[in-house]
Amino acid sequence: MTKNLTIGVLKETAAGERRVALDPETVTRLTKADHDVLIESGAGAEARFPDSAYQQAGASLASRTEIIDRCDVLAVVHAPDADTVARLRAGQLLLGLLDPLNDPALVAALTGARVTVAAFELLPRTLSRAQSMDALSSQASAAGYKAAIVAADSFARYLPMMITASGTARPANVIVIGTGVAGLQAIGTAKRLGAVVTGYDVRPASRGEVESLGARFLTSSIAEGAAAGGYARALSPEEQVEQQSELAAELVAFDIIITTAKVPGRTPPLLVSADTLAALKSGSVCIDLAASDLGGNVYGSVDRETVTTAGGVCVIGAGDLAAELPTSASAMYARNIQALLDSFVTDNQLQVDLASDIHAAVLVCHDGKIVNAQLQARQLAESVNA
Ligand code: NAI
Repeated sequence: MTKNLTIGVLKETAAGERRVALDPETVTRLTKADHDVLIESGAGAEARFPDSAYQQAGASLASRTEIIDRCDVLAVVHAPDADTVARLRAGQLLLGLLDPLNDPALVAALTGARVTVAAFELLPRTLSRAQSMDALSSQASAAGYKAAIVAADSFARYLPMMITASGTARPANVIVIGTGVAGLQAIGTAKRLGAVVTGYDVRPASRGEVESLGARFLTSSIAEGAAAGGYARALSPEEQVEQQSELAAELVAFDIIITTAKVPGRTPPLLVSADTLAALKSGSVCIDLAASDLGGNVYGSVDRETVTTAGGVCVIGAGDLAAELPTSASAMYARNIQALLDSFVTDNQLQVDLASDIHAAVLVCHDGKIVNAQLQARQLAESVNA
């Protein structure tokens, strides 16, 4: 009997990345479904999945080039390096967090090579059928949890109230700015650690979610009309200035500030300005989950770096904290990969259905053409402007 599909997993090459696209448990399910799984040696090592665990799950170890050449499906966390992209061939399916809205060169290369490419960032997340595929949520959840842990670890005081024979410690005051998936996890974790927690968002709809976690909800006077399709919209420069000054007055009361505010495909809003940072108490901690090459929510934050200001405030740039919880984050990500892959398998073979709302949205390109409407609009605009 012929095998169904050959699924490849490579060791991730991005700096600081410790996750892997498939964990041994998911590999077991795939091999039981009679797929072949090829794993690059050491691919799961940083996530604490040894090669032997993959072999026990039915996978074979193979070299990087062998995997790229033989696989029908390549499952990745981030976009592969340029050498790998250059080796991919027509009809192969690439699945991952590929950031297509910010990487036109990658999109052009993969479209030109006629690779079929699905990017989790393009998934229609509110469709209930797509929820098991929602890698943005599973990874944001891991990042939010870890943000509270990193904050607690970097803070030189107790988080909970402590009444002891040697004295009483007051609880830490924590604010989480941006109460989407990551923010709500950060709130829940900081609450469990005993802090007094506030959640802040421009989407008034998040009030109920924040309060149900036992936290106080804070919003902005510009909140009305700041949400579009479940997401926050980008604020105008005037609104941003107003929001920053409003927030500045509130933020001085907090010991720990965790920021997660993002606007899809756009530069993250600057919410903690240089002046606010200078006004914070010495020993305060800011964790910026929006830190990226484009900038972040906290003035001066640098992704994957910790900076202490002259005023003694610790600013941690943490744009990809899920990578710091590699075992759990990979296990959830692998589930998302399997669910998305399942949507492409009919009669044990890969099949793209552009009439399906999930495929029409999640696919970057197929058969040499850009498929996603957002990317098509951008391509059209570029050709008009050229
Ligand atoms: P995100 O990562 O895009 O942004 C994080 C948070 O930052 C959001 O709550 C956003 O409102 C907030 N934000 C953006 N600009 C801001 C500003 N200037 N000031 C303060 N806050 C700001 O968001 P995420 O976590 O991806 O979720 C966005 C929305 O999508 C939420 O409503 C979430 O509940 C919803 N969602 C729904 C799903 C479903 O229906 N299955 C699945 C995942 C998310």
